[in-house]
Amino acid sequence: MEQIINFKRMKMKPFLIVAIIVLSLSGFAQENARIKIDLDREIGEIDNKIYGNFVEHLGRCVYGGIYDEDSELSDERGFRLDVLEAVKGLNVTQMRYPGGNFVSNYHWKDGVGPKDERPPRMEMAWSRLETNRFGTNEFMEWAREVGTEPYFAVNMGTGTIEEAQQWVEYCNVAEGPYYAELRKEHGYAEPWGIKYWSLGNEMDGFWQMGHLNAEDYAKKAREAAKLMKLTSPDIKLVAAGSSNYRPDADPNEWNTKILAELRDVVDYLALHMYIGNPDDNYYNYLSTPLVLEERTNIVEGLIAREMENANRGDRDPIYIAWDEYNSWYRARAGESMTGDRALEEHYNLEDALVIAGFLNAFIRNADIVKIANMAQMVNVIAPIFTSEDDMFIQTIYYPLQMFAHNAHGTSLDVFVDSETYTTDEFFVGLGESTTQQDAVPYLDVSASYNNDELIINVVNRHKDEAITTDIISQSGDFDGEITVVEVNGPTVKARNDFDQTEVKSVEKDPVRAKGNTLTYNFPAHSFTQLKAKIK
Ligand code: AHR
Repeated sequence: MEQIINFKRMKMKPFLIVAIIVLSLSGFAQENARIKIDLDREIGEIDNKIYGNFVEHLGRCVYGGIYDEDSELSDERGFRLDVLEAVKGLNVTQMRYPGGNFVSNYHWKDGVGPKDERPPRMEMAWSRLETNRFGTNEFMEWAREVGTEPYFAVNMGTGTIEEAQQWVEYCNVAEGPYYAELRKEHGYAEPWGIKYWSLGNEMDGFWQMGHLNAEDYAKKAREAAKLMKLTSPDIKLVAAGSSNYRPDADPNEWNTKILAELRDVVDYLALHMYIGNPDDNYYNYLSTPLVLEERTNIVEGLIAREMENANRGDRDPIYIAWDEYNSWYRARAGESMTGDRALEEHYNLEDALVIAGFLNAFIRNADIVKIANMAQMVNVIAPIFTSEDDMFIQTIYYPLQMFAHNAHGTSLDVFVDSETYTTDEFFVGLGESTTQQDAVPYLDVSASYNNDELIINVVNRHKDEAITTDIISQSGDFDGEITVVEVNGPTVKARNDFDQTEVKSVEKDPVRAKGNTLTYNFPAHSFTQLKAKIK
């Protein structure tokens, strides 16, 4: 028969023939990857505050972003309505404000009272003129409109503990003392009731205005905390943990000292992480969420050690707040670092996959990570990008939106069996120390269970190949149709712009399992979210 391969004519060597026969007898097929899910294997409750974001007075995040008094797209308060809608679409549970590095030269009193009387100030973190036309009350009105929980940072750099106390009084005390009455004079009769406050920003960083060593920071933070709590006893406080992972820094030492000094006082330890792909190495870059997870695990251990000797009454232990995370490397030098157009990153598909990986890592560590804030909200390393008369949605918006809308309830400890790869040694973020990651699974998975609904989040890190996977429920058969939403694009460099959308979330045809097993083919370089019910 013509179709039968004539090995003799092809002059093949006998061992090659044997190899081909053995391979074809074994099905020539790779085994499917496996994801096993057991509803009894609980990690912890997912805190909705992990779907937070961040508004800093930086570049066009506030002015020209969420707020533009001169724009026809804004309402009478100056809020850009197209931006507001896009922000609402993200279901942002919590919003950090007003910085960032900015806060270390911010004096809140400059930003309250009649707008025309507010002093313009030299803003030294990002080299701008700060007009102060947007401040505490404008932010709070905007946050109410968005429906998000405010999370304020006080100035522990150039600010005083007294100034921090007065801000809490202005925001949270109903009436009586001077700053509560001042708020009322400014037209806000009711206190804002701001519950979450961080004690400074990145105080371990030499770049921070008013940078302190660990001992001095802990001392100042403890005294600020005392005054702030005496003013508003129910507030929750966040200490500035490590953000400096440069080769000459010792983040574990900083965290250890801060925790030892503040273990009875604070409720969260803040960590920051920015990753990037400056060497254009896709696989190194896609492994960066594992580094975040390693750092999480180390800090979790440090916290556990301190909690043994803490005196916290019936308060919860200290949790981790990843209150700044994102990809940030293109707009990180020279002119892109300062002024009105600072930090304007334009994201692509691989960035969106890394963000999905970060969110997976937060879910997998739901017992200790209770706050996370993508940095930032609009224009500045952000999921939303504006021009004077238009806006577009960046790639990183979609995974965050899908998680924030669906991944709630109990985080599950998922078994994953997929092929792995090893990275080169590489710099995790600009200026940071290097790492090498062994055994990075091509499939990065998290799962959660809420109100009878199982959510499975899967990043296929493979750049070229789909991965056929058996998803096995250990807790009973799957019930009915399983919905599938995917983020993908033509290439890993695909991106969106004002006039093009190459990357977005797309609802696929629903699928059905056979009994307790769903076999699904996760496309190359994709993020997929499955929504299922178990009988
Ligand atoms: O988000 C941009 C900047 O990154 C923040 O202002 C600072 O806290 C961090 O270094």
